[in-house]
Amino acid sequence: MPTRRTFLQTGAATTLLAAAPAFVRGQNLNSKLQLAGIGCDGKGWSDINEMAGHAQTHHVAFCDVDLARTEKVKKLQPDAPIFQDYREMLDQLGDKIDGSTVSTPDHMHARITSDLMKMKKHVYCQKPLTHNVSEARHIRKLAKKTGVITRLGNQIHSHSHYRTAAKTIQDGVIGKVKEVRSWCAATGHGKSGYMDRPTHPIAPPETVKWDLWVGVAPMRPYGDVKCYHPWGWRDWQDFGNGALGDFGCHIFDPVFTALNITGAPTDFTAHHTGMNDEVWPAQTNVKYTFPGTEYTSDRSIKISWDDGGSLPSVSGTGIPGSVALPRSGSIFIGENGSLVLPHVGAMSIYVGGKASDKKPPVLESLNHYHGWVDGCLSGKQPSDGFEYGGALTEAVLLGNIAIRYRGKKLQWNGDAMEITNNKDANKWLSRKNRDGWKMDS
Ligand SMILES: NC(=O)c1ccc[n+]([C@@H]2O[C@H](COP(=O)([O-])OP(=O)(O)OC[C@H]3O[C@@H](n4cnc5c(N)ncnc54)[C@H](O)[C@@H]3O)[C@@H](O)[C@H]2O)c1
Repeated sequence: MPTRRTFLQTGAATTLLAAAPAFVRGQNLNSKLQLAGIGCDGKGWSDINEMAGHAQTHHVAFCDVDLARTEKVKKLQPDAPIFQDYREMLDQLGDKIDGSTVSTPDHMHARITSDLMKMKKHVYCQKPLTHNVSEARHIRKLAKKTGVITRLGNQIHSHSHYRTAAKTIQDGVIGKVKEVRSWCAATGHGKSGYMDRPTHPIAPPETVKWDLWVGVAPMRPYGDVKCYHPWGWRDWQDFGNGALGDFGCHIFDPVFTALNITGAPTDFTAHHTGMNDEVWPAQTNVKYTFPGTEYTSDRSIKISWDDGGSLPSVSGTGIPGSVALPRSGSIFIGENGSLVLPHVGAMSIYVGGKASDKKPPVLESLNHYHGWVDGCLSGKQPSDGFEYGGALTEAVLLGNIAIRYRGKKLQWNGDAMEITNNKDANKWLSRKNRDGWKMDS
């Protein structure tokens, strides 16, 4: 009888796993999916806690670079060992782990997810899937090659409001879609776009392994409390992706699903309120062109993004000017009406310049987290795996490259992974990982 380790190490197991990931579960002789959680507080705690709410899961290990942020998981599963370095966790307990949540700051998603998938572990990774475009392409390819079950942490994908709106659009209630305007109230988290590193950085608390927190990114001192860790990293270009990176994968998600966008944008142009080399702007606008689909009126479709509190114009939408738009959401402008989808709220439909009394069928909410667990147990890939989530992430991160070339339209060849009209801009597609953190293909 092969042990879990010997079974997983055989080429036969690898081939079978790629074809049918659930098969390995059958060898486990343990009815529960054995999970790890990487990143244990903040969103990590909610990811771990949600997964633990599924009757068929059991957490066998946790990892957080900051031991002060592991109190909740200790209470949840007192006998599960806690690591600060996920690589040590995988070295020591790799055989016991079937899958893992990855809920660290953005800059570490790709390296951790890549290491997990190479060990044939199923992965639920927070949005955005990666910190740069070439990492996203790498993760998409690796997910396909390994056949593990993957899901992006854009949980509203499974919410009734988003599911209902996507179905309503696909059912043709507003006709084919001519344009989409998306927006988000979040700013570069209240900062000016010109914030600089702390001039008198303090040492990290003893509970934090700072070298591990910085990981793939260029080293810098700990800084100050909450400057980078926890939460503050979002503002900083080396670690986060600003408001577009934070919310783009949520708010564009129903746009991608409703219109069945699977391809890359062909061009994108950004305007913003200004930035330095360290942080993202306080307010941005990005205009994308995507190839049309069966749900669009033309062979291409314009999709725009605004953040930092500016709302899109309702001109040309048929939505009365007296309507108060939600703080964040999207307007789908169709040939026969417009649909406003708040983030997260029930849609409204406007036809002929006024609110419509159409009542399209409402789809129920599904449990996004448990959908991934069920996928791991059954071998069925959920709807927003890393192929979908990778394409969504690439589009979001390309918008962030446009932000670096304010006012200049960048043309993109997604297959060749090349910005074709601005050679210099291609340098932002990838980043050299810090020594010791290279990501092998
Ligand atoms: N889906 C959502 O609605 C949603 C909401 C908030 C955040 N997020 C995403 O979740 C991720 C985490 O965001 P957050 O707000 O919780 O950040 P955070 O900084 O508050 O928490 C991150 C946690 O990960 C730990 N960590 C950092 N680096 C680590 C590493 N290399 N290995 C293990 N643990 C590590 C930190 O100590 C901390 O406990 C981000 O990708 C963010 O975009 C998603």
